[in-house]
Amino acid sequence: MYRSHTCGELRMEHCGTQVTLSGWVQIVRNLGGMTFIDLRDRYGITQLAFNMESKPELCEMARKCGREFVIQATGAVRERSSKNPNRPTGDVEIEVEELNVLNQSAVPPFTIEDESDGGDELRMRYRYLDIRRNPVRQKIEFRHRLALEVRNFLSGLHFLEIETPYLIKSTPEGARDFIVPSRMNPGQFYALPQSPQTFKQILMVAGMDKYFQIVRCFRDEDLRADRQPEFTQIDCEMAFVDQDDVLETFEQLARHLFKTLLGHELGTFPRMKYEEAMDRYGSDKPDLRFGFDLRDLSAMKGAGFSLIDDSPCVKGILVDDPGQFFTNKELGLLTDWVRRPQIGASGLIYLRFSNDGIKATVGKYYTAEQLEAIGKALGAKAGDVLFVLAGERHQVLRQLGELRLELARRLNRITPGVFTPLWIVDFPLLEWDEEENRFFAMHHPFTSPLPGEAEKIYSSDRAVLASIHAAAYDMVINGVEIGGGSIRIHDRTLQSRNFEILGFEKDEAERQFGFLLGAFEYGAPPHGGIAFGLDRLCSVMGGQTSIRDYIPFPKNNMGRDVMIDAPAAIDPRQLGELHLRIDPKN
Ligand code: AMO
Repeated sequence: MYRSHTCGELRMEHCGTQVTLSGWVQIVRNLGGMTFIDLRDRYGITQLAFNMESKPELCEMARKCGREFVIQATGAVRERSSKNPNRPTGDVEIEVEELNVLNQSAVPPFTIEDESDGGDELRMRYRYLDIRRNPVRQKIEFRHRLALEVRNFLSGLHFLEIETPYLIKSTPEGARDFIVPSRMNPGQFYALPQSPQTFKQILMVAGMDKYFQIVRCFRDEDLRADRQPEFTQIDCEMAFVDQDDVLETFEQLARHLFKTLLGHELGTFPRMKYEEAMDRYGSDKPDLRFGFDLRDLSAMKGAGFSLIDDSPCVKGILVDDPGQFFTNKELGLLTDWVRRPQIGASGLIYLRFSNDGIKATVGKYYTAEQLEAIGKALGAKAGDVLFVLAGERHQVLRQLGELRLELARRLNRITPGVFTPLWIVDFPLLEWDEEENRFFAMHHPFTSPLPGEAEKIYSSDRAVLASIHAAAYDMVINGVEIGGGSIRIHDRTLQSRNFEILGFEKDEAERQFGFLLGAFEYGAPPHGGIAFGLDRLCSVMGGQTSIRDYIPFPKNNMGRDVMIDAPAAIDPRQLGELHLRIDPKN
């Protein structure tokens, strides 16, 4: 028997009991007459005590143990003379009578502590050591509990968890596919699923009217803190539902998860139309934990300031700044920030309201009365600062959307532990791409127009097509897109027309999606669904911005697994079997 108890288990009531623990050496403290080892496992840390006088050999052995040695200790539990109130096991220790070194350890390349001295890359390379640290381990445990609750909740509603294949052909979710060559079919390739979208729709045709799957998805796209090339979805689909049914079901799921895992009541989710979200927050995933709504400033036009006069859109953000954070220096730094290529503004106009009048970067174009009128219309008070951007509408909204988040960060207006969920609804069905001169599906090509707008899809007028709203929705919490879905097209003619608008030649649509169109001929029920990003949901619930630590073995920013060193070259024989050749010129 390696252990009778875990390292997180022993309390005062165990005093006098003979126990055996196994674990890793956190630290060895040699105090002369006494030596102590903090022994760690997944459950906690327990102090082992070695007495030099009564057990000199054991004590010597203990002193020789290095960090991360794997040891087994047997002895009686006793009350500690100096207790550690910060540890659940801090009242007791083991008076060790037997010590076994089960394995030695090289000196770890970073400290296995809550605050480690290891940089990201190093911690990724030695992920097995990183996972020994509490903050990482706890996140992986949280993920397990979340998945369990998802399964319990959805099973309770008669959803079935059904697996769909990983070796499929391309699904058009908007990113690039990861491709797998087929040995048995020379020159042909599988694609890894960007999502199980078409399969879950097929399952609805198959009569499995409530499906879910906790499923890995693969997307070859540029990585960010909340994006990984392989990530996990809670993928769901239901038949015989309208949009309200889907929103209500999955709002309940989100409420259930927050309640059971965090003890937090989310309340009812507000629903906001896409247009309103863009207009008020410059984003289709607004963070509602703070105000700073975008304000219309068309009233600033006509004063002879060409930057503003000639811009189709003038909008701004009014910020209360009682602590006078925005000194001239801070305003300069913020101006530099909006000029960064990622934001791309040419500059930042600001007006500062005070009891001694209004100071403005554009003071020479406006009289004091005009500036006062602007402030009055906005309800500005002394101490407030108004930031203004002008330009083309899309660009101004995007830039102000970013600026809004940055202002909240700089002014420290994001309170930890606050959750502001909402649904974004009524997305446009189609998005015109100027460069490619064609429409793209804003969600995906299987998304249905809103009831009542379906007829518009047969129009040949670009403006009419652009005005169609989709029965598509996103769940957003704290400015993060947690999930997205839609009611699907279940009519073959409508689906074919949608492919046509999206630029698929008839043959091409048939080749790529013939199986789905074919299925639609055999009694496809009305259906719809949603997929949550499980990694993102975990990180938002945990108050983190990065999903990495919720993924046991994540990839770095270059899409590399630095622990196993993948991707890697394969040997020529394997290439040959796969009928692949590497072009020596590349
Ligand atoms: P969508 O593409 O919106 O919808 O994806 C659903 C959710 O998956 C998460 N997500 C990601 N998480 C981590 N890394 C990524 N690279 C990544 N990409 C997406 C997001 C997102 O909201 N088939 C549709 C769903 C449907 O219509 O039912 C789909 O995949 O949280």
